[in-house]
Amino acid sequence: MAINGEFRALKIKKWLVLFILLIWVALESKINGHSVRCGGSLIKVDQVLTAAFCVYNATTTTITLGAHNLEEKEDTQVTLESSNYTIHEEYNWTSHTNDIAIIRLGQSVNLTSAISTIETPPLKDILLTYDDDLGLVAGWGKYSDVESIYSNVLRKIEVTIIPYLACTISYLFKVQQTEMCTTGLQNSKNICLGDSGSPLVVNGTQVGIASYGSDFGCSVGAPAVHTRLTRFASWLSQNVQ
Ligand SMILES: *[C@@H]1O[C@H](CO)[C@@H](O)[C@H](O)[C@H]1NC(C)=O
Ligand SMILES: *[C@@H]1O[C@H](CO)[C@@H](O)[C@H](O)[C@H]1NC(C)=O
Ligand SMILES: *[C@@H]1O[C@H](CO)[C@@H](O)[C@H](O)[C@H]1NC(C)=O
Ligand SMILES: *[C@@H]1O[C@H](CO)[C@@H](O)[C@H](O)[C@H]1NC(C)=O
Ligand SMILES: *[C@@H]1O[C@H](CO)[C@@H](O)[C@H](O)[C@H]1NC(C)=O
Repeated sequence: MAINGEFRALKIKKWLVLFILLIWVALESKINGHSVRCGGSLIKVDQVLTAAFCVYNATTTTITLGAHNLEEKEDTQVTLESSNYTIHEEYNWTSHTNDIAIIRLGQSVNLTSAISTIETPPLKDILLTYDDDLGLVAGWGKYSDVESIYSNVLRKIEVTIIPYLACTISYLFKVQQTEMCTTGLQNSKNICLGDSGSPLVVNGTQVGIASYGSDFGCSVGAPAVHTRLTRFASWLSQNVQ
């Protein structure tokens, strides 16, 4: 989570933080011999939603639920492994299109005061854009482009959803209608390496999955691109079991 190189405390309602942080899941995938840090969310007691990028070519993924600090053995943490993925059939690794995947845990997680599931938009909400709405993103990604290590603690930022046209113009029309963009309130806060797959939450519903940012890095103030979940409601209803 790049926040101009430093952590800034967020003034969001405490109940919102407490409610919302339950759904963030940390992922560590083994891909081509490397370890890849990502985020995800629990959409069913036995299924985690993430970006396709996070599990594409992965041999196995370690899933940590109920965590705040990944370096500590917190009582609330539950760690599982899985290698059972459903990646969108039309995921394009080069263009990042259809960046969505489901990890099947093979067992049900027990919901606790620190682990919760989250809803995604129903089919009827297909035309909702959430333009100018406030959203919440969080992750265990890097603080900035120059950082060599990932964050141990979950960091959260409040973001604004920006209209599609403004976003695709800033990416020279590469952003698709199946994607949505956010920008930090002060343009300096954004998702960074390691935050892919993390949920974007608006009013208690997960509306996006962190996908990618500018080639020039996460600190340049470019919008962040997320998979737009209203466009995947039917894919989800077919693939979430
Ligand atoms: C995925 O694996 C295939 C086969 O090993 C390889 O050719 C391809 O480059 C890999 N792609 C990525 C993005 O890791
Ligand atoms: C994937 O995206 C790249 C870049 O936009 C494009 O050139 C390529 O044709 C796409 N691949 C498929 C299979 O659509
Ligand atoms: C993946 O998980 C699903 C649901 O738990 C199960 O039906 C399927 O057999 C699993 N596939 C593999 C290859 O383990
Ligand atoms: C859920 O709780 C039961 C009973 O305490 C336990 O046996 C099981 O291992 C738990 N499941 C997971 C995934 O932690
Ligand atoms: C937020 O969600 C609640 C319950 O789902 C709904 O009643 C309310 O209208 C929503 N508020 C906004 C601003 O969308």
